[in-house]
Amino acid sequence: MIARDGGVDRRQFLEDSLLAAGVVPQCCSTPPAPMESIRFEGSRLILDLRRIPTLRSNGSACAVWDETRKLNLIVARTEAKHFVALNRACTHGGASCTYMHKSRTLRCTSLNHAEYTLDGTLLHGRTHGNLRAYHLRLNGPYIEIDLEKAS
Ligand code: FES
Repeated sequence: MIARDGGVDRRQFLEDSLLAAGVVPQCCSTPPAPMESIRFEGSRLILDLRRIPTLRSNGSACAVWDETRKLNLIVARTEAKHFVALNRACTHGGASCTYMHKSRTLRCTSLNHAEYTLDGTLLHGRTHGNLRAYHLRLNGPYIEIDLEKAS
């Protein structure tokens, strides 16, 4: 909870306070894709939908995090056969974004609540720009995400 400069990390403090009060922070509402559902082929990230139960319904989302590749993505199912993949870290302060199905947007879980369209365009918020959205395609039960090509 202590920031590098010796001060209190505000976001961590708030998350810890919410947990102590029995409230799960929104950043925890995007479940991670199971490791066995993820594989890489060159610059493509391939997700096996058969192994990601949390992506079975419209409006669902999962997170894909790979520290060695510096990846932190959110993948959302917006319609039966339509998915989007974007960087998950807000361009303001790096807090996690979550998928809001009702508004078809991504919203930062920090108190400033920056919001982005599904192509990554900033709608409002004090941020440092848009989120990167990735080109993807469905191939049978797989989502193939091109990590080098923006959508
Ligand atoms: S970290 Fe997202 S609005 Fe500040």
